[in-house]
Amino acid sequence: MPRTLRTLRRSAAAGAVILAAVSLQPTAAAAAAPEPIVGGTRAAEGEFPFMVRLSMGCGGALYAKDIVLTAAHCVSGTGNDTSITATAGSVDLQSPNAVDVPSTKVLQAPGYDGRGKDWALIKLSKPLNLPTLKTATTTDYDKGTFTVAGWGATSENGDQQRYLRKATVPFVSDTKCEKAYGSDLTPSDEICAGDVAQGGVDSCQGDSGGPMFRKDDAGAWIQVGIVSWGQGCAEPGYPGVYSQVSTFAADIKAAAATL
Ligand code: ARG
Repeated sequence: MPRTLRTLRRSAAAGAVILAAVSLQPTAAAAAAPEPIVGGTRAAEGEFPFMVRLSMGCGGALYAKDIVLTAAHCVSGTGNDTSITATAGSVDLQSPNAVDVPSTKVLQAPGYDGRGKDWALIKLSKPLNLPTLKTATTTDYDKGTFTVAGWGATSENGDQQRYLRKATVPFVSDTKCEKAYGSDLTPSDEICAGDVAQGGVDSCQGDSGGPMFRKDDAGAWIQVGIVSWGQGCAEPGYPGVYSQVSTFAADIKAAAATL
């Protein structure tokens, strides 16, 4: 993978920066660009009520009623921060039912340096009356088929979306994922997903920070990943790379308790 992606990912605090970064990437396979989130469909109102859109152009999920779990590369550091707006409560970002709440604080994963540890918490100025998304605390659910959702691009250089989209992506083993990304992958911190053989389905720019999740044994949604990075979007041979939530569950819990 080209170094530029890593480099830019490290500093990209704004959606615009992320999008600019992407257009500089060589398109290995200019795959037929299907639907937003790539290769997905629109989510129904209320289907994923824990989904949050963040004003810097990222996604997130409600970890607590007043805390959003997102990606470290979506924020610029740790401390008081009232500059971020979280929008939740509707699949339609312009719906009268959508609520906008400002942030009060940001906590970026301690030691984050652009390789792994791609998680962050955003404290909201007031709790939202919406369901939270449970996070995986063991590797039990780090397999199978996942759902990923977001308002991000519909194709590698596509536009951000007004309506939430979702896609289904199969688990990809670290061994297979390392075939694509070599030492850019941090297997302990990252979990991969996508259709390696065909491509065509993936998260994409602007989906970053959003959750990748599945059903647990009790039939409840459980978050196993955080949209992090990939070579382009939905290219054959290049799965999406997600922060492995189970690895950080204890750190996230301890960090949330300090907010
Ligand atoms: N880094 C991107 C963002 O900031 C997410 C890229 C996900 N890419 C992928 N191929 N799954 O929005």
